[in-house]
Amino acid sequence: MTYGTNVTMTNEDGLALITVNRPQALNALNCDTLEELRAAVLAADKDPAVRVIIITGAGAKAFVAGADIAQMRGLSPLEGRDMTILGQEVFAAIENLAKPVIAAINGFALGGGCELAMACDIRVAAATAKFGQPEVNLGIIPGFGGTQRLSRLIGKGRAKYCIFTGRMMSAQEAYQLGLADKVVEPDELLPVCREIAATIMSKAPVAVMMAKKAINHGLDMDLGSAVAYEAEAYTTCFATADRVEGMTAFLEKRPAAFAGK
Ligand code: CAA
Repeated sequence: MTYGTNVTMTNEDGLALITVNRPQALNALNCDTLEELRAAVLAADKDPAVRVIIITGAGAKAFVAGADIAQMRGLSPLEGRDMTILGQEVFAAIENLAKPVIAAINGFALGGGCELAMACDIRVAAATAKFGQPEVNLGIIPGFGGTQRLSRLIGKGRAKYCIFTGRMMSAQEAYQLGLADKVVEPDELLPVCREIAATIMSKAPVAVMMAKKAINHGLDMDLGSAVAYEAEAYTTCFATADRVEGMTAFLEKRPAAFAGK
């Protein structure tokens, strides 16, 4: 499967902008859209010209309003399982991309949409965005990683409160809970995400990648193993030419020119 219909991607100045593009269904994720999303993120991660990825939703109303309920309604339990595993695989792929991924949350981020945002590294929300895991309204639970990523992000009790009640939250509340990392005016959403991306791109690329790996993998380990893993990631950075350049540039009081090596 390739992308281009339900998921589009533009690529400029090191930034891949990936858009879930089904505004007529509030960008709901059916299986084809999940496959296109996987193809787009893997292509962006492989492309040496891309340094940072932004994922957003088409239109002003929704980031992603969840898994596609119209498609899910007719599925057998085993087909439902296949779809949930597909969503989990795609979101794990996003979480594990070498490159940083910013979610630009431009509207409803519900169910699978909230789960997609949580698989990204940084979440920037328009002040008008709404978050929630409303699956219990449909007789199901979050199935694209939401029971796990939400608990890890905001804590077990708060995740249970959100998931058991299916309540919708404002961007501000999501920010207070640590679900959104920054809230901006809607017309500032993409400019702010581009600014964050530009700041990240000005840093040593291997260091950014190693930091992502250390944080992601370390959180699945006990603290002793995690800091040991951090030391290995640190050593990888130490072996780069960019480490020599960064330290030399500091001592010579000039900006560093990183080469990604
Ligand atoms: N799947 C399929 N279609 C969807 C959809 C979804 N998740 N969300 C919205 N749509 C469709 C609507 O059916 C509607 O289509 P028609 O115009 O053909 O009728 C269109 O998008 C516009 O939606 P509304 O008319 O409902 O717009 P609204 O402004 O009145 O309400 C909303 C917006 C509150 C987001 C509402 O659409 C809604 O509640 N959507 C469903 C949210 C949801 O339950 N998400 C969780 C899905 S389950 C899941 O994600 C499981 C998982 O973890 C894997």
